[in-house]
Amino acid sequence: MHTPMNQKSTLTEIQERFDRDVERFSNLITGQQATMDAPLVMDLITQAAKTATPHAKRILDVGCGAGNNTLKLLQMINPLDCDMVDLSRPMLERARQRIAAVNSGEVRLFQEDIRIVNLPEGHYDIILAAMVLHHLRETQDWEDTFRKLYRLTAPGGSIWIADFVAHENQSMQEIMWERYGKYLESMGGVAYREKVFAYIDKEDTPRPVTFQLDLLRQSGFSEVEILHKNSCFVAFGAIKKG
Ligand SMILES: C[S@@+](CC[C@H](N)C(=O)[O-])C[C@H]1O[C@@H](n2cnc3c(N)ncnc32)[C@H](O)[C@@H]1O
Repeated sequence: MHTPMNQKSTLTEIQERFDRDVERFSNLITGQQATMDAPLVMDLITQAAKTATPHAKRILDVGCGAGNNTLKLLQMINPLDCDMVDLSRPMLERARQRIAAVNSGEVRLFQEDIRIVNLPEGHYDIILAAMVLHHLRETQDWEDTFRKLYRLTAPGGSIWIADFVAHENQSMQEIMWERYGKYLESMGGVAYREKVFAYIDKEDTPRPVTFQLDLLRQSGFSEVEILHKNSCFVAFGAIKKG
């Protein structure tokens, strides 16, 4: 990553990019293809959510995009009351439309930053956060957000995260980054790889999964699990004591 922290995309810039990108996040079969193992990861986090919290009635999807992960979960637990948080109104509207077609539960939309959105504490049986937390910036941001997600989780509830991560060790970072570059080239050639690398550099500030697992425990979650890791992509989560 070359772009200094203070020149990374603002929230408005992130929102505007996603406003224009709804279609790419609306495929439930492939998921979003710049993500390695996207269909597997959607399956894993939603299956883990259903298994850890089979009684779920209320879920929160953070950075929900067009609702892919909530839709996957609804294939296993239905109905669900769904609170959907995203910066992008077109993403939220697409999520509502797709979810309403298969779910009789209530759907509420929050067009807000997860850091400031006001949501009920101890309320959510399941929280999903897929491909969104890498937009958090400073360490304080990460700590506050994980603590907030813990407070929002109901006793006995669970949180499942899929994300693009960095590595603690620079050599590991280089290996994983190169592998991801090869994956992108196989999907769309060198031009596609450069395009994705350019927006990651401008927009994203990923942190190691090890750091995030520590944060889950420090926030209060009792059982922490890694579901999958392939290069820079990880699926993991945790359960809050009942
Ligand atoms: C890469 S997309 C992932 C969408 C969906 N979770 C999925 O897996 O298909 C990231 C989404 O997070 C939203 N987002 C980014 N930063 C956010 C923030 N601070 N608060 C709420 N939403 C955010 C973006 O608007 C975008 O729709």
